[in-house]
Amino acid sequence: MTVLPIRITGDPVLHRRAAPVPAEAFGPPLERLARDMRETMLAAPGVGLAGPQVGVDARIFVWGWTDPDGARHEGTVVNPVLVADPVAAGDADPAAESEGCLSVPGHKFPLRRSAHAVLTGVDAAGAPVRVEARGWLARIFSHEFDHLEGRLYVDRLASPWAERARAVVEEAGWGVPGRSWLPGSGPSRH
Ligand code: NI
Repeated sequence: MTVLPIRITGDPVLHRRAAPVPAEAFGPPLERLARDMRETMLAAPGVGLAGPQVGVDARIFVWGWTDPDGARHEGTVVNPVLVADPVAAGDADPAAESEGCLSVPGHKFPLRRSAHAVLTGVDAAGAPVRVEARGWLARIFSHEFDHLEGRLYVDRLASPWAERARAVVEEAGWGVPGRSWLPGSGPSRH
């Protein structure tokens, strides 16, 4: 397995809708990509990773998250459909609703998300996937699905978090094509 470089905000692949995976692409190469993405996610470490984040213009994401009861939730979905409940009104709570993204590494900002979502699709071998998610897992699915639509969570932030996110991106010299970081390559990545 291989840990892949993760693209940082500003790289065009992160900011456009990803392409559907065609039927002929399923099988060993796609399964290998999913394994490499999982390895990369764990090395980062993160709880989700989408194809565009490793420079792959394809509708695939992986997730891996341990819930507060210690149960592990992990999987791969290709060509997903996500049906999410409406987002509750009100301001996001910084203590309970702050999320991060491996493509904006080292930062977290509050964002309100759907409390419940149903993910369907297939895995890298073409087998059906259906996961009903609540709480943080629903948040992970919404975040990763957004990546496939070319949307980062920082694009969804409300004031003043949106302005703060723009400032950190600018200060880091991100927001331009070609920036990436390699998990495991040391603390200088940020
Ligand atoms: Ni992300």
